[in-house]
Amino acid sequence: MPLTINGTDHDFTGDPRTTLLDFLREDCGLTGTKKGCDHGQCGACTVLVNGQRINSCLTLAVMHEGDEVTTIEDFGTAEELHPLQAAFVRHDGYQCGYCTPGQICSAKAMLDEAASGWASFVSEDLSAPGRLTPEEIRERMSGNLCRCGAYSNIVDAITEVLE
Ligand code: FES
Repeated sequence: MPLTINGTDHDFTGDPRTTLLDFLREDCGLTGTKKGCDHGQCGACTVLVNGQRINSCLTLAVMHEGDEVTTIEDFGTAEELHPLQAAFVRHDGYQCGYCTPGQICSAKAMLDEAASGWASFVSEDLSAPGRLTPEEIRERMSGNLCRCGAYSNIVDAITEVLE
């Protein structure tokens, strides 16, 4: 069953009960995507599927025939970080770093939503249509837990990229 991961063709032929998370980590070696709760509660396993963020622990690999999956490995390089990664560094949005790949993937999807104009429809900040307020960012990132509690720094980093 073909699917694309970070622009590379893959073929899933494994046990149909395999989650997308386990396929990414165990079969594809893409261990940047983290397994936290494995029950859809922490967001550590967030990846993008056709541009939409999902918890990869809650979906089966076999359900993604023809889909385009993007993981943290597709964001920037050590020499040239993705703007979100660079902002997380500047704002000290990391502590242990375990939640960070999921936070970055989730933030990327949220920023893409904002860029598409959807955010301006619901933004409460009428002085800056399309901008998300820090409260709105917190709400939209609420599916990604940080057990170190670096939330304010994470929101600052996302806010910087949004501007
Ligand atoms: Fe998937 Fe926690 S590992 S939500």
